[in-house]
Amino acid sequence: VPRDREPEVAGPARALGIVGAGQLARMMVEAASRLGVRTVVLAARADDAAALVATEVLLGEATDGDALRALAARCDVVTFDHEQVDLDLLHELERDGVQLRPGVETLRVAVDKAEMRKRLATAGLPVPRYEVLGDGGDAPDAAPDPEELAAAIDAFAAPDGWPVVVKAARGGYDGKGVWPVGGEEAARALCEVAVRARTPLLVETHVDIDVELAVVVARGCDGASVAWPPVETAQVDGVCREVRYPGDLEPDLADRAASLARRVAEVAGATGVLAVELFSSDGHLLVNEIAARPHNSAHWTIEGATTSQFENHVRAVLGLPLGDPSPVAAHVASVNVFGAPSKEAGDPCDRMSGALAVRGAHVHLYGKAPRPGRKLGHVTVCGDDPTDVRERAWAAARALGTPVPGSLDAGAT
Ligand SMILES: Nc1ncnc2c1ncn2[C@@H]1O[C@H](COP(=O)(O)OP(=O)(O)OP(=O)(O)O)[C@@H](O)[C@H]1O
Ligand SMILES: [Mg+2]
Repeated sequence: VPRDREPEVAGPARALGIVGAGQLARMMVEAASRLGVRTVVLAARADDAAALVATEVLLGEATDGDALRALAARCDVVTFDHEQVDLDLLHELERDGVQLRPGVETLRVAVDKAEMRKRLATAGLPVPRYEVLGDGGDAPDAAPDPEELAAAIDAFAAPDGWPVVVKAARGGYDGKGVWPVGGEEAARALCEVAVRARTPLLVETHVDIDVELAVVVARGCDGASVAWPPVETAQVDGVCREVRYPGDLEPDLADRAASLARRVAEVAGATGVLAVELFSSDGHLLVNEIAARPHNSAHWTIEGATTSQFENHVRAVLGLPLGDPSPVAAHVASVNVFGAPSKEAGDPCDRMSGALAVRGAHVHLYGKAPRPGRKLGHVTVCGDDPTDVRERAWAAARALGTPVPGSLDAGAT
C-alpha cells in the first residue's frame, strides 16, 4: 500500500528496500529506523510482520518482476528477507542497474542447497557426502526420476545404514523440506510425493551430529568483514529452538568454526550478513547450510553484542562502516517463541505479563497471528551464568505459551 504522501525525512534520505516482510525484515526495519534509514518492504500481505512497522509497504510477490521494479524505484539498495526468489528475474534487475545486496551470484549459492553443496565442495570446504538428483535446482520444475532417487537412497543407505537424509534443493525452511528417511518403505513413500510435487532433490548421508553450531559474518561492500563468535544451536525436528553463546563449545572448535565461516563468506562473496550452519561430528566440522541474510542463530546479538546482526546488515548493504560484534555479556541464551499447541492458549501478546516479569528477559514478538507451532518471537537473556540465562529465557518463552520439547531438557527450568 504505497502511502500517498512521501514521508518527510530529516538527514540523509537513504532508503533500504527489502524483498519479503517476515520477522527478519521486521528486525532490519527496527535497526534501520534507529539509523534514520527509510525502509520499503515488498510484502505478500498487508499484515506481514515487517509490513506492520516499515516506513512504506508495497504489496506484491517476491517473484513478480513489476513489483520488484516498483520496489527498486523507491529505494537505493535492495536486500532480502527470505530465499523464495526468482534468480533469473533478479539477474535482469541487476543487469538493469538495481543494487541488489547480496547480489545474484551470492544468492545463487545460498538459495539452492544443491548449488550450495557443489560450490562449497568445489572450493575444498567440508560438507556432508551428498548427491544431487537430476539437474538439481537449475531446473525448478524438474521432477526427480523415481528410479534415480531410489538408487541414490539405496547407495547412501548401503554403506552407512539408515537413515539417509533427503532434502528439497529449493524452498525449504525450519526443517520443512528435510526428510530423514528411516527405511525402504519410507523411501518409497517419499519418492512418490517428491515426484508428484516435482521437487528437485538431493540425498545426503545422515551425519552423526555431536553438536550444531552457527557462525554469522557481516561483510561490507568493500569485502571487509566482522564475525560474531560461534554459538551452539539446538534443533528439534529440524527447527531451531534455542541458541546459546558460547554454549558448551570448546574454544578450539569455536576457533575452527570461525575461520571456516570466513572462508565460506569469501567463497559466497556476500555483501551483508551471511550465516553458516555447521555440524560437528567426531571433532570434524561440516558446513550444513548457509543463508545470505540475517539468521535466527544471531538474534541474541540484538541485546547480547555491541552491534547486532541486523544493524550490521543494514550498515553493510548501505556501504556504511561495520560495527563491533563483541558480546556484551559472558553468557547469552536466546529461545524461540512458538504458538502453543492448543488454540485456547491464545495469543502470546495476552500472556506478556508472565514473560516480562522474568528478570532481564528481552521479549521480541513479531506481530504474527498465533498458530500452533508457528514461530512468533524470541526471548533473549544475558548474564554471567550459563544455566541461569538459559533458565530465565525458557521461563519467559514458556510464559508466552511455547511448548518445551522434552529432548532439550529445559522442562524443569
Ligand atoms: N545430513 C544431515 N544429517 C543429520 N541431520 C541433518 C542433516 N541435514 C539436516 N539435519 C538436521 O535438520 C536440521 C534442518 O536442516 P537444514 O538446516 O538443512 O534445513 P532448513 O529447513 O533449511 O533449516 P533452516 O530453518 O535453518 O533454514 C539441521 O539443523 C539438522 O538438525
Ligand atoms: Mg538450517
